[in-house]
Amino acid sequence: MTPSSLLVLASLAFAQAAVVKYDFDISWVRANPDGMAERPTIGINGQWPIPRIEANVGDNIVVNVVNSLGNQSTSLHFHGLFMNGSTHMDGPSMATQCPIPPGASFTYNFTVQQPGTYWYHSHNRGQYPDGLRGPLIIHDPENPFKGLYDEELVMTVSDWYHDEMPGLLSFFMSKVNPTGAEPVPNSALLNETQNLKVPLEPGKTYLFRMINIGAFAGQYIWFEGHNMTILEVDGVYTQPAEADMIYLSAAQRCSFLIKARNDTSANFPIAASMDTTLFDTIPDGLNWNVTGWLVYDQNKPFPEPAVVDGEFEPHDDMTLLPWDNETIWGEPDRTISLDVIMDNLGDGGNYAFFNNITYTPPKVPTLYTALTSGELATNAAVYGEYTHPFVLERGEIVDIIVNNIDSGKHPFHLHGHHFQSLWRSADEAGTFQDSNVTSSEFSPVPMRRDTIVLHPEGNIVLRFKADNPGVWLFHCHLEWHVKSGLMATFVEAPLDLQKTLQVPENHYAVCAAEDIPTSGNAAGNTVDLLDLTGQNAPPDPLPEGFTARGIVALVFSCISGILGVAVIAWYGFAEPVNVAEPAGAAGGVKESGENQQVSSGEEDSPVARDGHTDEISALGGR
Ligand SMILES: *[C@@H]1O[C@H](CO)[C@@H](O)[C@H](O)[C@H]1NC(C)=O
Ligand SMILES: *[C@@H]1O[C@H](CO)[C@@H](O)[C@H](O)[C@H]1NC(C)=O
Ligand SMILES: *[C@@H]1O[C@H](CO)[C@@H](O)[C@H](O)[C@H]1NC(C)=O
Ligand SMILES: *[C@@H]1O[C@H](CO)[C@@H](O)[C@H](O)[C@H]1NC(C)=O
Ligand SMILES: *[C@@H]1O[C@H](CO)[C@@H](O)[C@H](O)[C@H]1NC(C)=O
Ligand SMILES: *[C@@H]1O[C@H](CO)[C@@H](O)[C@H](O)[C@H]1NC(C)=O
Ligand SMILES: *[C@@H]1O[C@H](CO)[C@@H](O)[C@H](O)[C@H]1NC(C)=O
Ligand SMILES: *[C@@H]1O[C@H](CO)[C@@H](O)[C@H](O)[C@H]1NC(C)=O
Ligand SMILES: *[C@@H]1O[C@H](CO)[C@@H](O)[C@H](O)[C@H]1NC(C)=O
Ligand SMILES: *[C@@H]1O[C@H](CO)[C@@H](O)[C@H](O)[C@H]1NC(C)=O
Repeated sequence: MTPSSLLVLASLAFAQAAVVKYDFDISWVRANPDGMAERPTIGINGQWPIPRIEANVGDNIVVNVVNSLGNQSTSLHFHGLFMNGSTHMDGPSMATQCPIPPGASFTYNFTVQQPGTYWYHSHNRGQYPDGLRGPLIIHDPENPFKGLYDEELVMTVSDWYHDEMPGLLSFFMSKVNPTGAEPVPNSALLNETQNLKVPLEPGKTYLFRMINIGAFAGQYIWFEGHNMTILEVDGVYTQPAEADMIYLSAAQRCSFLIKARNDTSANFPIAASMDTTLFDTIPDGLNWNVTGWLVYDQNKPFPEPAVVDGEFEPHDDMTLLPWDNETIWGEPDRTISLDVIMDNLGDGGNYAFFNNITYTPPKVPTLYTALTSGELATNAAVYGEYTHPFVLERGEIVDIIVNNIDSGKHPFHLHGHHFQSLWRSADEAGTFQDSNVTSSEFSPVPMRRDTIVLHPEGNIVLRFKADNPGVWLFHCHLEWHVKSGLMATFVEAPLDLQKTLQVPENHYAVCAAEDIPTSGNAAGNTVDLLDLTGQNAPPDPLPEGFTARGIVALVFSCISGILGVAVIAWYGFAEPVNVAEPAGAAGGVKESGENQQVSSGEEDSPVARDGHTDEISALGGR
């Protein structure tokens, strides 16, 4: 190739890449998507559902955020995007940035090289279930399947709560909920509504991009009278796979073809059903299903879906093959083994642990520690033990083994990467080690994705390449467990970051606004980086011999003791419960205090704060 033709190619590529700009004013709006309870909801530019972000592969996306919430801080995470070279744009607060306080603005600016179906959401204080969640689609001029369909449709599934997250979270983590029963959603939504109607033209083929943007519930999804041909999961093209039902955990995506029928004699239900095995109790009157329709003729009836008898049998995503046929990456340089455990700490709350550590946000965002600790940035100690840091060398192949010692399902998500899904055991198989599985049983052409479901008391093995310098979280995507600490931090090639990364001034400005330090170790110590005195820490363990069962007994005796008062209080608090964020506590330093013993609002009587009969009865759940 001659230099001039190279130049032409380069300028062509340049001409195609665009700057796609969004101005997002984040503020409260009111919404009532299930028709049962209008409530304050977090919208963008006065709208909810929030707008879709759309761009082409190669484009530069710029999102200018203004936080007009007035009473909560925020941040945006662009779920599934690698943020290669721009880890500071990834969004999780106290990992790669400070929370954006009320009144402040912040610019996200990154270039996308990955095609496919993604989403964006708040990654701050368990906030996204209050509405700050929406699709992000990257179109691909080179899409290998582009000839196979006529039109694209974007569709979300989600769960919905009538109460706001701050109140639900403080109930969830409190001593009146010692078993850690997660609040059960009030409804399921399709495209953030119910009774969605999707007009189809007979004979056409549609690409559906389906995204679970919910907080908690995985969902079974099926289309009566139509099969799906899966072509992509989590931004990775698959070899086409037929399915009549899929399961999407919170944060997973799947695109598939639906061939419209050739006649217009009937409309067909679209059904989604929340995975009730995640719920400790099923509140009376809960409808965990949501229905929509593929509409061929507006004048024909809209039938209810037929009841599915017996167990759901969704497509098994472990059987998918990546379209590019990429084989298993070489032997791991490092294996990280994480055991998932739930246990109570001294404040009576139920915490989630990887090994013996429950994630607690640092005083300095982990990325800023990496950038300001010189050679010591390769020493995990500077990040503080409670961010559960692992420092990775550039190019390492890393295996993550996760053993589920808990009886719940957990969808695990890795920021900044796709992992290869090498192995997933059946339910109740025990730990990876106990199951005597060898690498010869690993999938030779493993599916890559960014979120995978770990089964109850089972195990998974994931493999990824540390080829993306940055600070990347690995966590359960059930928003409750982000709060209760089921999270670890990978610090990848920190010395490379020090050489290459330029953090814009507006990122530091939001820290200054809330007095969050931007240098030093996790404790904010800039002199002796190995001295972590004063770091944020979880509550102390329970006193020896004190068990969760003991707390349950204690709480029950308290409840029966105060039942008379409770009944009166329930009347008084029949409104949806919103625990106000203490004024001025929206920022990182102070808000990280909510994980401390000094936390505010957690010492009130259980009844006054959480006047919910079903939440109280959920205590009996486990
Ligand atoms: C986005 O970042 C690029 C460099 O990475 C820079 O050239 C561009 O000016 C930035 N855009 C905005 C709006 O900040
Ligand atoms: C879902 O809603 C969005 C707007 O929020 C719309 O653009 C999209 O077409 C809807 N999808 C379907 C399948 O109706
Ligand atoms: C869907 O697939 C199943 C099994 O592959 C087949 O029996 C059924 O006829 C298909 N349904 C439609 C509507 O194509
Ligand atoms: C509809 O008709 C077209 C052309 O006759 C055919 O190719 C297609 O397979 C039919 N689709 C279905 C779902 O039967
Ligand atoms: C939800 O749908 C499933 C599958 O058809 C059915 O078994 C269940 O009874 C439905 N639940 C409710 C509350 O209608
Ligand atoms: C991957 O292999 C399948 C057959 O096993 C083939 O159809 C497909 O074209 C291959 N993909 C690529 C990108 O070569
Ligand atoms: C976890 O265990 C290790 C090794 O036993 C110990 O060094 C560390 O301090 C423990 N961490 C916590 C949070 O207890
Ligand atoms: C794994 O190997 C040990 C020792 O050989 C054996 O006791 C155990 O039953 C095996 N476990 C399984 C699940 O096969
Ligand atoms: C990030 O970019 C580097 C160099 O451009 C490349 O080698 C690496 O594979 C990329 N990593 C990811 C996860 O995209
Ligand atoms: C913030 O303001 C909204 C809208 O007025 C209100 O619904 C919500 O409860 C407040 N949240 C907190 C944490 O104060």
